[in-house]
Amino acid sequence: MIDIFLEENHVYVLDNLSLGSTDNIQKYLSNPRFHFIKHDLSDPITTIKVFRDISEDPESPKILEVWHLAANSDIPSGVEDPNVDLRDTFMTTHSILAAMKEVGANKLYFASSSAVYGDMDGVPISEDKGPLLPISNYGAMKLASEALISAAAEAFLEVALLFRFPNVVGVPATHGVILDLTNKLIKDPDVLSVLGNGTQKKSYLHVSDLVQGMLFLRDNNAKNIDIFNIGPKDDGIFVREIAEAVVARVSPSANIQYGKSDRGWVGDVPKFSYLTDKLAAAGWTPQLSSHEAVKKAVAEIEKQQR
Ligand SMILES: NC(=O)c1ccc[n+]([C@@H]2O[C@H](COP(=O)([O-])OP(=O)(O)OC[C@H]3O[C@@H](n4cnc5c(N)ncnc54)[C@H](O)[C@@H]3O)[C@@H](O)[C@H]2O)c1
Repeated sequence: MIDIFLEENHVYVLDNLSLGSTDNIQKYLSNPRFHFIKHDLSDPITTIKVFRDISEDPESPKILEVWHLAANSDIPSGVEDPNVDLRDTFMTTHSILAAMKEVGANKLYFASSSAVYGDMDGVPISEDKGPLLPISNYGAMKLASEALISAAAEAFLEVALLFRFPNVVGVPATHGVILDLTNKLIKDPDVLSVLGNGTQKKSYLHVSDLVQGMLFLRDNNAKNIDIFNIGPKDDGIFVREIAEAVVARVSPSANIQYGKSDRGWVGDVPKFSYLTDKLAAAGWTPQLSSHEAVKKAVAEIEKQQR
């Protein structure tokens, strides 16, 4: 996505590096249009200052779009300590909105999550499903962020697109089931222990599809505020199948050991799939199914970790 934006504009990446790493943006650091600012977005006062500095940069005088992807992506750590998601998943949204209002930036694209839906027992979910009862602090703070953005859309935002991501896979991988299983097998090629009993079944989207989908919706959006499930049309893939794919790729002779519960951790949704009719009606569908996305990501992540 950064490559596409850099073709015509300056790009400012703001990240406190609590979970991210500059390794993932190394190739852009020498580009004069690319700017990295190590910054904690949960603090509104300093975030307003950073946005003001950016909007006063004579080389790039107006903030055209804000893509808000910062969050705590470690769901179990947020269940353990609710301050984590309050700070990194919700306050980042609050600060960004305050800063956008201050500098007159009015287009926001937000990385929301299927976690806002809570446990729907695998019944395919559409965007208008409600009431929404998330089962993790992460999901709760994503839903609260959506609500705050909705209020901002009434007050000053010209465009607010809320993208509800499913499980996203691909590289660079910073976390997630495929990375965890690959790392475990590289460490111990004989045994693979899996969180949960392998019956969890969820939708997976490859990051290349996700980027194309978000850009398509940005370019074809007519509304002030809208929400999209961005995901495959299928009803997902079992964790057991993911574990088998990782074993086949990384260490074919390994023995897989499953846990007892149908949840990998507190806050894990055992089964979910999307209804993506709204996405299809808008004119876009992903190229890869959940199975194809996982297969591609398993190969990519093995290469990344070796
Ligand atoms: N990967 C998925 O499967 C998935 C699914 C649903 C939603 N999402 C959302 O997509 C976005 C990107 O996720 P990702 O998988 O690339 O995770 P990631 O952890 O790689 O990216 C999140 C980034 O936010 C940064 N961050 C956290 N708190 C911050 C703060 N207070 N100030 C500044 N930066 C902060 C982290 O350092 C990290 O680089 C997140 O908002 C995530 O919630 C991801």
